[in-house]
Amino acid sequence: MNNKAVINADVTKGTINKNIYGHFAEHLGRCIYEGFWVGEDSEIPNTNGIRNDVVEALKNINIPVLRWPGGCFADEYHWKDGIGPRENRKRMVNTHWGGVIENNHFGTHEFFMLCEMLETEPYICGNVGSGTVQEMSEWVEYMTFDGESPMANLRQENGKQEPWALKYFGVGNENWGCGGNMRPQYYADLYRRFQTYVRNYGENKIYRIAGGPNVDDYNWTEVLMREAHHLMDGLSLHYYTIPGDFWLGKGSATNFPEDEWDITMQKAYHIKELIEKHSTIMDKYDPEKRVGLIIDEWGTWFDVEEGTNPGFLYQQNTIRDALVAGVSLNIFNDHNDRVQMTNIAQTINVLQAMILTDKEKMILTPTYHVFEMYKVHQDAEKLALDIQSATKKIADKEIPQVTASASKAKDGSINITLCNIDKDNETELTVDLRGANLSDISGRVLTANELDAHNTFDNPDKVKPVSYTDFQVNGSELSLKLPAKSVVAISIK
Ligand code: AHR
Repeated sequence: MNNKAVINADVTKGTINKNIYGHFAEHLGRCIYEGFWVGEDSEIPNTNGIRNDVVEALKNINIPVLRWPGGCFADEYHWKDGIGPRENRKRMVNTHWGGVIENNHFGTHEFFMLCEMLETEPYICGNVGSGTVQEMSEWVEYMTFDGESPMANLRQENGKQEPWALKYFGVGNENWGCGGNMRPQYYADLYRRFQTYVRNYGENKIYRIAGGPNVDDYNWTEVLMREAHHLMDGLSLHYYTIPGDFWLGKGSATNFPEDEWDITMQKAYHIKELIEKHSTIMDKYDPEKRVGLIIDEWGTWFDVEEGTNPGFLYQQNTIRDALVAGVSLNIFNDHNDRVQMTNIAQTINVLQAMILTDKEKMILTPTYHVFEMYKVHQDAEKLALDIQSATKKIADKEIPQVTASASKAKDGSINITLCNIDKDNETELTVDLRGANLSDISGRVLTANELDAHNTFDNPDKVKPVSYTDFQVNGSELSLKLPAKSVVAISIK
């Protein structure tokens, strides 16, 4: 079958919320400590304790929003342990992640400082599982109250006069699991109660995110929407792409059997069905689509790299991860009517990371490059796109070989991102691009020869985007050759 697409440059389908390109950083393994935070006395170049190389690299992908402090860690985190002089901060055990000492040197002030450096919106996840309503309410007061109050006074004693602006706040994490093993009815009631005290102080208006379902737990969505949709702005969804079995063996990030490529692509594509089915339930209670579906954890989850702490979730990142990212982001863009934010897990050294570090060294992963290639979609107008693609049958599911997104940026340029998931074969795609002038076209491609091609500290640029010219223009038609296992970005000025 010939792959064909029609893009109508005059028909827009709403804005692609830039927060779809959001990230997640947890106190887990070497994400916060070593990844972001090295401390002011470190020999690794830093600004007030935060690594300069990492900030510079992340600024280049325009991180719009950063979720912190967890994850499962959030429901064990007591924010008052992480304020005041660092030498006096409580040392605790990170029981969920590796049983290591957490010295609380990275706390609320450090997180906001990081967000300022990255020019990103903070998204804080509060503690419902082991915390109290008072603790959550005081955290919000500490961060956002302008004037005299016990928590605002405490913040000022700790050196911050003006409140911070905080928009996104999550009321617990995975409350069906590590966040308290609750049933949906019980959590819905707790959500209603806790969120009451997540106050809007002064001009600060908080977007409240309720803890949502695990994967395909549609009953959770039903109960939460029925009982609390009027009290939330967003409902989260977590879904990880795991080629194997979560408990019995997830599969290796590199050096995997060939058939795991296809399984991984099929599992990544499954997020489309999850979005559509959860959205159908949300539509019943919120036909105006006011409540956002917030996919605040997604990405690949493989077995940890040999010799590393199993609780640190450190994995390599290959061209396969790049395809998972590209396919997922195309799907999120396509569901921009309901998907208002997503946060890939996790930014540095954990799961599907953007960056890996080894002491003073840092490398960018293939996933980083996909986020860089796709950043043009942030806050752009989605364009009407119809695509007919050959399909692949994998484990009884048909999935398209080629997926795509198209958007128009504020400067009028048109950007198209494309993924060919076929590991062996290049493919052709003809795009009928109506209403656009095709005189000034440029492109980049991310691809590789081996299925597990990846960057290492010795060879950091093995997988990176290069110029792409394998296209032809004929009138309003653009014909493209997409290499096997590739992500392609086209820009039309
Ligand atoms: O991202 C790793 C963990 O996965 C998070 O802490 C948790 O929310 C999820 O189960």
